[in-house]
Amino acid sequence: MNVLVTGATGTVGAHVVDGLRYAPDAAVTAASRDPVTARERLDCATVGFDFTDPTTYRDAFAEIDALLLVRPPALSRVRRDIIPALSAAVGAGVEFVVFLSVIGADRNPLVPHARIESWIADSGLETTFLRASFFMQNLSTTHREEIRDGRLAVPAGDGKTSFVDARDVADVAVRALREGITGAYDLTGPDALSYAEVCAVLSATLEREVEYTDPSLPRFLVSRYRLEGDLAKAGVMAAIYTTARLGLAARVTDDVRSLLGRPPTDFRAFVRDNRTVWT
Ligand SMILES: NC(=O)c1ccc[n+]([C@@H]2O[C@H](COP(=O)([O-])OP(=O)(O)OC[C@H]3O[C@@H](n4cnc5c(N)ncnc54)[C@H](OP(=O)(O)O)[C@@H]3O)[C@@H](O)[C@H]2O)c1
Repeated sequence: MNVLVTGATGTVGAHVVDGLRYAPDAAVTAASRDPVTARERLDCATVGFDFTDPTTYRDAFAEIDALLLVRPPALSRVRRDIIPALSAAVGAGVEFVVFLSVIGADRNPLVPHARIESWIADSGLETTFLRASFFMQNLSTTHREEIRDGRLAVPAGDGKTSFVDARDVADVAVRALREGITGAYDLTGPDALSYAEVCAVLSATLEREVEYTDPSLPRFLVSRYRLEGDLAKAGVMAAIYTTARLGLAARVTDDVRSLLGRPPTDFRAFVRDNRTVWT
């Protein structure tokens, strides 16, 4: 089976490539806008691919049986930016798509993932929807600097989040791709934590104070915009943390355990594994 991994240099995709690289039953190709750098980094076959550049589709989908579909976070106009590539994949003979979706996509038509799921469901493809909760890795990437500086500034109040380790999501994707598991799954960690609890775990493991500041929404928007200069991204982050504040991100499921036959990674273990990131 030939598998194309989109988002192969990203949070989940890179672990999926790792999981498939030596699989005897799958040949993996990593898709990237910069296939040369990706080959050096991932040590596997790569191909140039850009969702927004149709001239890259033919080579990327040639001989491909199965696809890990990762929507780049910056591409929200699904009909314009994602569907043309998916149509090309179907035309090229791809039969199976494992889509990295987001928890709640089945109940919230406003998220781009819902529109992608709906297109795929109507396409005749064999599909798996992996509806993932909020990645633990957001704390070791997006929020790394501020945690290093001793604080975490997100407007989530006392709301809890069922953080999932992206490596567990990748392990599920690998299993789905190798074994042709179809269906829709809600992937969460083993429990839901408030950001005060997150900071308590960080403080205890890093052996120094990490303060949860819980800023107001306007204050959060202004500071994220100052930091990254991207108002749309700041808006998406504000929406995600508001969902948590309202208590809508706390649902815990058993899907990781039932698909992997082991419990999902606990947040404390994640922090222990990654402690050098924040020191
Ligand atoms: N972060 C979370 O907590 C979370 C939770 C649930 C679901 N999700 C969903 O998971 C998906 C991935 O999110 P992420 O934050 O983990 O991002 P990510 O996968 O780390 O995103 C970056 C990836 O997108 C690729 N990419 C960017 N623009 C591209 C383009 N025009 N064409 C092709 N590839 C492109 C990049 O590849 P190159 O630079 O190599 O081209 C890179 O591999 C998103 O749809 C997100 O909504 C995220």
